[in-house]
Amino acid sequence: MKVLFIGDIVGNAGRKALRETLPHLKQKYNPSIIIANGENAAAGRGITKAIAWDFFNWGVHGLTMGNHTWDNKDIFEFIDDEPRIVRPANFPEGAPGRGHTLIKANGKELFIINLQGRTFLPPIDCPFTKVDWILEDHAEHKCVLVDLHAETTSEKIAMGWYLDGRVSAVVGTHTHVQTNDNLILPQGTAYVTDVGMTGPRDGVLGMERNAVLQKFITQMPVRFTVSEGSWHFHAVLIEMDESTGASKSIQLIRMNEEDLLLI
Ligand SMILES: [Fe+2]
Ligand SMILES: [Fe+2]
Repeated sequence: MKVLFIGDIVGNAGRKALRETLPHLKQKYNPSIIIANGENAAAGRGITKAIAWDFFNWGVHGLTMGNHTWDNKDIFEFIDDEPRIVRPANFPEGAPGRGHTLIKANGKELFIINLQGRTFLPPIDCPFTKVDWILEDHAEHKCVLVDLHAETTSEKIAMGWYLDGRVSAVVGTHTHVQTNDNLILPQGTAYVTDVGMTGPRDGVLGMERNAVLQKFITQMPVRFTVSEGSWHFHAVLIEMDESTGASKSIQLIRMNEEDLLLI
């Protein structure tokens, strides 16, 4: 089966990119299951119920989150009752929501796990130990995708090796920059360090660039807002063997707003 995984959707431009791009990508690649990272969907900070439902209505089957999970307080109203959204599983005990879930669509099943790295991010529970426990408890699932939301390339590469042969895919999110190290690891796990970002192209990681520049130059406190304007769309397409759970291919997808005119 083919799984389309879309990198962090950022703000208005990211939502527009998703709405405009998905019909074309569905037609071109025919993915059975579509997963997206939604941690920046509401003005760069968290997600609302209305936005999540828009994504589901447009064809997204499951959403992963990250360090911005709690930034929009709307999330507390619905995350416990929404089985299609996962937040990092290694958030400490007692956090609302769930860290893993089974997504079913088009007659296929994909078990998804969200983890968050600990290097240059808050010192939450160990993602390596946590994923061991989850996989032990859910050994019945063949096709498993892990979104490791992390800052450093090393922590993500380490997780790729750690899970090679135990899950179908380890995809990185959070840096908003797509890496071109997509590969199938020796035991059949598809891997990429970062899927990238679906959002405004002319800012700095999705934020309005003048404010970011001012911060770098003056080192004074500056309020960041999400950037607007034209978008780019970053995703990966992973082909998994349903009988073994191993992946056959992982392909980068990278589009600019102008590319839609060429389709
Ligand atoms: Fe993000
Ligand atoms: Fe993040």
